[in-house]
Order: sequence, then C-alpha cells, then structure tokens
Amino acid sequence: MDIQVMQRKFAYDERGQGPTFVFIHGYPLNRMIWQAQWEGLSDHARVIVPDLRGFGETPMIDGAYEISNYADDVRELLGALGVTEPAIIVGLSMGGYVAMSYLRRYPEHVRALVLANTKATPDSPEGKMGRDKNIGIARDKGATAIAEGMLPKMLASATFATKPELVTRVKQIMESASVPGIIGALNAMRDRPDSTSTLLECGQPVLIIAGADDQLMTETDQQNMKLAARNSTLVTIPDAGHLTPMEQPAAFNHAITEFIRVHGGA
Ligand code: MLT
Repeated sequence: MDIQVMQRKFAYDERGQGPTFVFIHGYPLNRMIWQAQWEGLSDHARVIVPDLRGFGETPMIDGAYEISNYADDVRELLGALGVTEPAIIVGLSMGGYVAMSYLRRYPEHVRALVLANTKATPDSPEGKMGRDKNIGIARDKGATAIAEGMLPKMLASATFATKPELVTRVKQIMESASVPGIIGALNAMRDRPDSTSTLLECGQPVLIIAGADDQLMTETDQQNMKLAARNSTLVTIPDAGHLTPMEQPAAFNHAITEFIRVHGGA
C-alpha cells in the first residue's frame, strides 16, 4: 500500500495491532526483506514496514541526501499513520544508521531500538572512497553491477550452500533498486555522522543483533555499540551473514520477542 506524505508517495505495509514496530531496510534493499518479521510478529504487534525513498515502490526525491532525510521521512510516515506513542524502531545496516538518526532527532518517539547488522561509527577514509567508486559503478553500469558486487558479501556461506532460493531472492531485490536511489544512499552513508554519542546518551533499551558470519560488520562494531548503549543486549545469530532477518528469521524474531518481553511486554 502507499500513502501521500508531504505530497509524495510513500510505500509501506502495515499489519496487526499492539505495540508499534517499524522495520527499516538496508541498502540496496527494500521492505521485502522483512517478510518473515511481518508474518511472524504481527499477531501481537502493529508492524509497519516502509520503503525508503528511492527504494522499492517509494519514488526518489531530487536534492541532497543525508541519513537524517530518511529518518525524517519515517517520522512523517508515522505521523500520517497516526502513530503517536513511542515505537520500537528496528533497522538493518543502513536502516540502523537511519534508526540511530531517528533516535537522535525524535527520542520521545522511540520506545526501544533494535540495531541489526549495523554499526555506530562513520565511514573510514577508505570506506568513503569505496562509496565514490560505487557511485561511478551505479551510474555507468546500473543496479545489476552493484548487486553482483555486493551479493557475495551479503550472506553466510551456510546460506549460499543451503538456501538457493533465498540467494536468488536477495539478488532480485538488489537488482530492482533504482540507480538514483542507490546513488542517494551511497552519498548519505558516506557522509553519515558518528552515532556513538547518540548511543551513549540513549536511555531506551537497545537490542543489537549480529550475524556470526557477517562480512560487512565486525565483532568490534557490535561490541562498541554494546559498550556505548548502557541498557543494551547483544545477540549473535549463528549461520547468518549480513541479512539475519532473512537468513535466520526464527532466531531473529525470537531475539526481538524475548527482548520486548523482558523490557515491558509486547
Ligand atoms: C547495508 O546493508 O545497508 C549497507 O551494506 C551498509 C553499508 O554499506 O554501510
């Protein structure tokens, strides 16, 4: 479904009743990565799953791109959907950068944070150069070339060996990304701020979910977030790479359900 927010189309799915969960996808992905959470958690919760601008069915917007723009979009969407109570904000990778930005900008609207396969620190100088290189690849060769470059790093070796349909699905999702959306996200990620101080100041409970075989986020990244957020829990999921909610959906959903149960019930 979609809704007009500030005269713009915003695609999202929504299901269930109860405490509000918002699931923010990573790059270069879209809301389809959350299907198992959508199906598995909406019996007891209101699950809202947006496509960020330039991804899935949400159109690109002209102008400069910053991670805070995505966070503002999510706030606009939730406002338009009448979500007034603090929500549980779940972000995967780039979605985690957006979730931390959302916390920084709208702390009163955050009940708890779930940070999956992400990190608080900004890009290194080499990382920034990599973003610029990928902007050139996206511009010259399109989303397929970006997907080809990323796929080997997205999933655990166990997933490649045992779940060929999932591999195909992830590839298709990445190939369907729009070039302007990809370039906007690469610019935003390259220039994103350090969110460590946001976690240091955060009073809300934080669940950090890591994939044991994530090639894009290190164990140090996860430990640093755990150290920064005083009220945090770290769960590392075996046989999962960068896409834990898709690779190990039962373990991912269990980690979230258990976390919410401990921190006030869902
Ligand atoms: C993502 O999955 O969102 C990206 O890999 C994050 C990043 O490149 O920093």
